[in-house]
Amino acid sequence: MSELENFESEIIASITAADDESALEAIRVAVLGKKGSLSEKMKTLGKMTPEERSIMGPALNALKNSVNEAISGKRETLQDLAIAKRLASEKVDITLPVRPSPAEVGRIHPISQVVDEITAIFADMGFSIAEGPDIETDYYNFTALNFPEGHPAREMHDTFFFNPDENGERKVLRTHTSPVQIHTMESQKPPIRIAIPGKTYRQDSDATHSPMFHQLEGLVVDKTANIANLKWVLEEFCKTFFEVDHINMRFRPSFFPFTEPSLELDIQCDRSGNEVKFGEGSDWMEILGCGMVHPNVLRFGGLDPDEYQGFAWGIGIDRIAMLKYGMPDLRAFFDADVRWINHYGFRPLDMPTLFGGLSS
Ligand code: DAH
Repeated sequence: MSELENFESEIIASITAADDESALEAIRVAVLGKKGSLSEKMKTLGKMTPEERSIMGPALNALKNSVNEAISGKRETLQDLAIAKRLASEKVDITLPVRPSPAEVGRIHPISQVVDEITAIFADMGFSIAEGPDIETDYYNFTALNFPEGHPAREMHDTFFFNPDENGERKVLRTHTSPVQIHTMESQKPPIRIAIPGKTYRQDSDATHSPMFHQLEGLVVDKTANIANLKWVLEEFCKTFFEVDHINMRFRPSFFPFTEPSLELDIQCDRSGNEVKFGEGSDWMEILGCGMVHPNVLRFGGLDPDEYQGFAWGIGIDRIAMLKYGMPDLRAFFDADVRWINHYGFRPLDMPTLFGGLSS
């Protein structure tokens, strides 16, 4: 047997004997790696005479091919063996109960769900959704909404003020979502139809107030928007949101600096049982403030009140969520108690739509 044949049969024997993939890889490196035994032999070709090279060249190449083939053949065999071994050792116990998927376990917070419900309702009426910053300037939170300097209504809002900045300006945590009315008028031309859900902040805390809460603002501005339109929008909203066919509403005169006239809306309800029922009964419940946008507010928004008019409303999201889903204490909303969220939360894939049902 020639020296080369010996060399080859030794390599093939070691490949055959390799019993796992890392042993096989070690052989490959030892033979075909940069300093491998076969690679070293290939390097000697350069020093041979042309005659020797014409014999040894093809012989070494053939050897390299057969080693490569042997290695990849063996690798496949070892991989098959490894799978067969795992299949034999890992058994599925089909008698085990199925674990719930994450989508079954996770819960959507009622506020998020109610925001989705509100979005679905207003999107269906042709409204867009708008948002604005939680940290506002005094200008957007008050001045542009027609709160005069030093007016007591500024104090009524129990505002959280930031320390004054280098220009002496005190930013605020917005006390309502109404500043987004101004941002919207500044950035888009009428007709405007927007619903604005968002976080709001006031220094207040008890069973029905928390320092951070949520509001839904609505704004419509065009050339003919009027109180009858406002009334229709709010009635449709209340019926759809509370999922009742009929609702009795009562508007009372009120005061907000940014609307004229200003109104508060009560809806008829029955509080005699454990739950509040809407559309029947002898009680009234106040649920929102609204009105025709004050001409000064349109001016602050860059619109001419002789050309445009609008209506707006603001409603507490937390409160209508509590009413709809019978949650008695607002503070629990923000306690991050898993038992509470398991009880009152919604399943992740129960997305509210008007055609599929809001809450069912
Ligand atoms: N911003 C008012 C508040 O937080 C609520 C409100 C009342 C908003 C009347 C409006 C409105 O847009 O027209 O108390």
